[in-house]
Amino acid sequence: MILIGGIAAVAANWGHLPKALRPGAYPFRLGVASGDPLTTGFIIWTRLAPRPEEQRGGMPSEPVAVDWEVASDDAFRTVVARGRATAFPELAHSVHVDVQGLQPGGHYWYRFASMGEQSETGKAQTLPDPRSHVARVRFAALGCQHYETGYYTALRHAAEEELDFIYHFGDYIYEYDVGIGMEVFRQPAALIRRYRGGAPSTLEDYRQRYAQTKESLSLQKAHASTTWFCTYDDHEVQNNWVSDHDQGGSPPDMFLLRRNAALQAWYEHMPVRDMPPIVSGRPPDCRRHAQWGGLLNAHFLNTRLYRSDQPCGDGPKPLCPETRAPALQVLGKTQEEWLADGLKASPCTWDLIAQQIMVAPVDFLSDDGDARYNMDSWAAYETARNRLFDMIEARPSGNAMIVTGDMHENWACDLIHKERVIASEIVSTSITSDGDGSVMQVGRDKVMKANPFVKWTNSRRGYVVSEVTPDAWVSHYRVMDAVTTRNMPAYTAASWGVGVGERGLRRI
Ligand SMILES: [Fe+2]
Repeated sequence: MILIGGIAAVAANWGHLPKALRPGAYPFRLGVASGDPLTTGFIIWTRLAPRPEEQRGGMPSEPVAVDWEVASDDAFRTVVARGRATAFPELAHSVHVDVQGLQPGGHYWYRFASMGEQSETGKAQTLPDPRSHVARVRFAALGCQHYETGYYTALRHAAEEELDFIYHFGDYIYEYDVGIGMEVFRQPAALIRRYRGGAPSTLEDYRQRYAQTKESLSLQKAHASTTWFCTYDDHEVQNNWVSDHDQGGSPPDMFLLRRNAALQAWYEHMPVRDMPPIVSGRPPDCRRHAQWGGLLNAHFLNTRLYRSDQPCGDGPKPLCPETRAPALQVLGKTQEEWLADGLKASPCTWDLIAQQIMVAPVDFLSDDGDARYNMDSWAAYETARNRLFDMIEARPSGNAMIVTGDMHENWACDLIHKERVIASEIVSTSITSDGDGSVMQVGRDKVMKANPFVKWTNSRRGYVVSEVTPDAWVSHYRVMDAVTTRNMPAYTAASWGVGVGERGLRRI
């Protein structure tokens, strides 16, 4: 491997390599990533793992130095920041560098060097000055990437979209046992590859899931292409967990052991600004705020960690009286107040509320026509949903848009409060979860008829690219006809948008 630029000089001077390492082992097998941008910096991430399939990624139990540099050009002719970080075995030899002192609205390139090798180059952007004029923001929302049910082709397509950022709404890994996707998911899905090892419950188990997932070059390309905002949903820990409740009703103390291990592993593998849980003593809180000039004010929420347990025992069912209990929380009081303050004082034309679970209260109808709601969504938390809608109504001007994941289907919905449309919700399908899917799930025509606020739905895999300008918001539903076949092309199944000051989605 040829080393060039400043990193080469530093790496060549080390003279010390861990004894347990085989010479020539490439430590950047899990790629690089950037995230959580500010106006003057961002986090850059990597994890040393020359043999990801092995315990500790093939690394010894000792700290290892990692050099990093950031340049204002992709050839690294103008290096604007550099330094040396330490990859600790306690954090799976992951590195989170908080790069500072950069220019607002800047485009940068970064890379790492360690153990005599150099990483691939990643691209990152700082946020623009909040007082600046921003003509356009283009971002993708994606997530739900069950490794066993499809190839990550959608991530390779997303890497080519020239995005200002990617929002990951969670389900980066799935905690299911190996080979059980077919029984658990709502639709039978062919399994095209297998997780190594069974259902994770310990830190090392979860690390192994991330390592295997991150070996995907398509995923690495998507991470290297732009800066991400990473949040987690349920499958980073366990299906439909909330707060200290798991799905099986385990004693909370026991579940917390698992949750803390899972979220520790999430932290170790994401380009996030949180303190390591091992240092802070609490789970990482993926709540974020970011602003693009006067154009876009983004709130990235956490709808798992502080939520009340699902009313009436979870599962799809009619709404029970408990769904109207005033004490029900989706965000928790602190996060709710934070969001209310952020929306009330919004200086931007558009507010993005990026979060995990569906807000529009869709009645999915049972086969015999009875009401059926997803109790693991805002539909089952009516009082909390009304408070969210009141916050949106309290915005000074412009529009709010909600962007959501979790459903493994594309949806375009208007959100109705006190009998009028107050915002719209764009739900992105999955990267792979549930397999190839279909143009429209069986029975969705009836669902649309029963829920007139649903404007469109589609059940292919992919992601949503949204383009935000001072005049309009347009979301493009990018899909592929299959994920169990390699190299499928992506195309736009539909585009839905809203003009500034208007209410209600229209097809573009
Ligand atoms: Fe999912």
